[in-house]
Amino acid sequence: MTTFSKGLEGVVAAETETSYIDGTAGILEYVGIPIGELASKSTFEETVFLLWNRRLPTKTELASFTSELRSRYELPEGIAGRIKHLPKDAQPMHMLRTMVSALAMHDPSPNDNTVEAARDKSLNILAQAPSIVACFDRHRRGEEFVKPDPSLSFSENFMYMLNAKKPTPAMARAFDICMITHADHGLNNSTFAARVIISTLSDVYSALTGAIGSLRGPLHGGANEGVMRMLNEIDSVDDAEAYVMGKLERKERIMGFGHRVYKAKDPRATELMALAKQLADDTGNTDLYLKSHAIEEIMEREVASKGIYPNVDFYSATTYHCIGLKLDLFTPMFALSRIAGWAGHVIEQLGDNRLFRPTVNYVGPHDAPYVPIDQR
Ligand code: CMC
Repeated sequence: MTTFSKGLEGVVAAETETSYIDGTAGILEYVGIPIGELASKSTFEETVFLLWNRRLPTKTELASFTSELRSRYELPEGIAGRIKHLPKDAQPMHMLRTMVSALAMHDPSPNDNTVEAARDKSLNILAQAPSIVACFDRHRRGEEFVKPDPSLSFSENFMYMLNAKKPTPAMARAFDICMITHADHGLNNSTFAARVIISTLSDVYSALTGAIGSLRGPLHGGANEGVMRMLNEIDSVDDAEAYVMGKLERKERIMGFGHRVYKAKDPRATELMALAKQLADDTGNTDLYLKSHAIEEIMEREVASKGIYPNVDFYSATTYHCIGLKLDLFTPMFALSRIAGWAGHVIEQLGDNRLFRPTVNYVGPHDAPYVPIDQR
């Protein structure tokens, strides 16, 4: 018996202990802990440990995990050198995908797929991907690279390497909350891509490289950049109504709304909305928040009955803007965080692997004649 579901909607393709989503009730949990609890009480490092070990760490375990992560911030010389030769107008997601793939060439045993080796490689990628993004951004601005500072957390160190200035505690915490809320999300498209690739027993680098390629699509992680472009196109709060209604009439999509799984408000959007408001007020971007809020109200009135609500990307755009990130770094930020989830799923897949190999309904002709080329 085979069934066909376009876009694999409703198909259960794996079992996981990492994250749970109830799309009707608007619930997201990592290993059973509600996302709101983690966003308000945890750190990104602790969240990564949780996703990779499916339990919270003890104090000693967290200290050792954190110090291991910090000891790996520095890029191999060959990677830093390659970044200096990249085209300055390269798109950051293409750059990140390429450089994460290149990390495999600096690993003496890139194909080791034991669960222990997969954790080790994942930790390297998690520690070095932010350094890759920060160094590339400095390269394209013609600035010297900033050496990582192992006394800083994941979020602080990234912002320090990007700006050559330590972030304020409030900015670092806001960034950390973004990292926590984007870290994992069931069998989303990029996580599925990672699991599919590792199921061939290829290697962790290939799995995460494929996942980055998937994430950049505008229907997935690329939507946060689309949201920002939309906010820039709307001159003032008063213009939001005409803008949104025009798009809906033309059957165009409003970026940052709708979700394959959620038919209620994405709980990550609830967390990020509060953060976006606070940061917008603190950084003189209240207008941006007010425009977002107006769009949400119009969408609620027009399409909530179809189960279309804000998703994670909607308020993350305002949040990243207020943190001072350039528009084309928004999706790379999503990737830096989601490495945690991709790796968690890759580790899980390797622990109980079976090759992914679905079937396809052939709908073409049969027994067709081979027509010689000069008669076609
Ligand atoms: N704006 C307007 N209408 C929408 C939207 C939207 N953002 N999303 C869905 N719809 C409508 C769609 O036009 C269709 O209407 P109708 O039945 O009248 O033709 C209906 O809702 C169902 O759409 P669908 O494309 O079949 O639903 P899907 O489950 O395949 O799509 C989605 C999910 C995320 C691709 C879609 O909602 C979308 O394109 N959203 C905008 C892009 C976006 O924000 N993506 C980020 C997703 S969350 C983070 C992540 O996963 O990375």
